[in-house]
Amino acid sequence: VSGEVPISARKKLDKTGKDLQIWHEFIDELSDAVRQLLSKDSRDQKIRQAVREAVEVIASAFTSYRERNNIVIEIEIPSTITTPPMFLAQLYSIITNLLTNAMKWVMFQKDRRIRFEGINIENGIEIKVLDSGPGVSKEIREKVFEPFVSYSTPNLELGTGTGLGLTIVRNFVTDANGTVEFVDPPEGWGCCCVIQFEDE
Ligand SMILES: Nc1ncnc2c1ncn2[C@@H]1O[C@H](COP(=O)(O)OP(=O)(O)O)[C@@H](O)[C@H]1O
Ligand SMILES: [Mg+2]
Repeated sequence: VSGEVPISARKKLDKTGKDLQIWHEFIDELSDAVRQLLSKDSRDQKIRQAVREAVEVIASAFTSYRERNNIVIEIEIPSTITTPPMFLAQLYSIITNLLTNAMKWVMFQKDRRIRFEGINIENGIEIKVLDSGPGVSKEIREKVFEPFVSYSTPNLELGTGTGLGLTIVRNFVTDANGTVEFVDPPEGWGCCCVIQFEDE
């Protein structure tokens, strides 16, 4: 039969098949992450959570997306870095929102890098999310944490942009007595989001 299908139609079919394959991979990866996110364990109890492990789980949910879009991610977090007591689902949500934001905005550049850093600070820990995107200008650095404030354009795979992501991030960080803000990025980066948790 394939001999009777005009070559242009066959090319289109090939492309559709490939597209479907890509979507299939993407949904598979995401559903793994969602399963973990919704698992009872992740809402069981507020405990100190290992940051590196959580970043790895969430980052791996977007492997095929990152590969297709040439986004490079670095995770520079010693495995000893832990949060104050919180639900794992809260940490996953914080990381997912910050990572999907970073992935959305690096798409505007040719150079697409994201880096998670974690260090001990006096009395606590600091987590930085750096990306090579355009960053958040000083005038709107606080405003972006307000509900429904969004300047993003719809991204088919990463969501339409409800303007709730950063509101959720701040709620969960504050809930664990932490702070989150955008600061001037270091040399070589476009955006820098900093979370600090201090122990009482
Ligand atoms: N990594 C980032 N780079 C540039 N701008 C960002 C980044 N993260 C967040 N923002 C800005 O903050 C706004 C609010 O983010 P968020 O609450 O996650 O909403 P949404 O992603 O749905 O737009 C975004 O629309 C964008 O303008
Ligand atoms: Mg968002």
